[in-house]
Amino acid sequence: VFSAIEMAPRDPILGITEAFNADTNPAKINLGVGVYYDDNGKVPLLACVQKAEAILIEQAAPRTYLPIEGLATYDKAVQELVFGADSAVIQEKRAVTVQAIGGTGALKIGADFLQRFAPGAQVYISDPSWENHRALFESAGFKVNNYTYYDPSTAGVNFAGMLADLKAMPAGSVVLLHACCHNPTGADLDADQWGQIISVITANGLIPFLDMAYQGFGAGIAEDGAVVRRFADAGGPLLISNSFSKSFSLYGERVGALSVVASSAEEAARLLSQLKRVVRTNYSNPPVHGGKVVSTVLTTPELRQLWEDELAAMRVRIKEMRNAFVQKLKQKAPSKDFEFVNKQVGMFSYSGLTKAQVEALRAESIYAVDTGRICVAALNSKNIDKVVDAIAKVL
Ligand code: LMR
Repeated sequence: VFSAIEMAPRDPILGITEAFNADTNPAKINLGVGVYYDDNGKVPLLACVQKAEAILIEQAAPRTYLPIEGLATYDKAVQELVFGADSAVIQEKRAVTVQAIGGTGALKIGADFLQRFAPGAQVYISDPSWENHRALFESAGFKVNNYTYYDPSTAGVNFAGMLADLKAMPAGSVVLLHACCHNPTGADLDADQWGQIISVITANGLIPFLDMAYQGFGAGIAEDGAVVRRFADAGGPLLISNSFSKSFSLYGERVGALSVVASSAEEAARLLSQLKRVVRTNYSNPPVHGGKVVSTVLTTPELRQLWEDELAAMRVRIKEMRNAFVQKLKQKAPSKDFEFVNKQVGMFSYSGLTKAQVEALRAESIYAVDTGRICVAALNSKNIDKVVDAIAKVL
């Protein structure tokens, strides 16, 4: 029965990590996957996480099953982070949140839920989008289309094109939007453009699904989350997947959540019962540790302040790396203007490197995504010259 099964293609992002891990060159550099490394090239274990873990070890709690929807203190803390504690959707009990296995797990719960209750809908993702969005919604049974997004000539958003595409979508379509730090382009909408998007989505009866995997890496935690609050104020339906992989440096713990906004508390209770069904039939209930760490940090004032400071430091270091990258390329490759890298937001730069150039970099043990996406958060004061020299060489 298995003899005719073909080899699946390598994952476009995690497949690069596989190739990187297999490379024996000690000077190899992984600019592929979206992971923040410190200036020593290490994935940090945040001090707020270590302190929360010390508290949890002290408690020595048994590892019982969590409820299907996850730890109650976690779900509440996530809701308050995402919507704001004083938001109408929380006060009116119109928001439901389920703990998820990372941001990807949250997207999949949302996709399976939508497939059950909006089976005829088509999904629209930005052109380009995170490499896994299309595959994930297709595997949930949806037809997935692109909407206009990135304009290579400006390294920004083709906003007129995006708006026109949104206006042409049939009512009931699901629109996947990146709440902040667009992956892979780093090109975000401004506040006025978001307002216009929200108006079209509301007027045309589209279903917005906000993916927020990089909250805090753009302008700040509250600033990056502001768009979620604006969507919530516009009323439901609304889905939000969020992840703490990057913002807490908890990649392997798989900590995320899916929040859904309903039009009443009674509708919200029905939605939660169905979200629980999706979780139960996929993996029963989420793991304990990551959710406890995040909820302990978010609900303990000193730890929360520490987290905000540590996240700010990551954000600042990435911006410094962007600028150093631009300045160094100005000297090493003056024929091409990289100033746009300073305008991009979040962990990534859509560098404009071609697939052939990315392959040439790989020969130097520097790994990037085939689309030219590089993770600026993986640059540091020790490896940046090597990266810049190699890019200058392949241009
Ligand atoms: C990325 O885009 O590199 C990250 O979100 C990691 C992943 O799962 O692809």
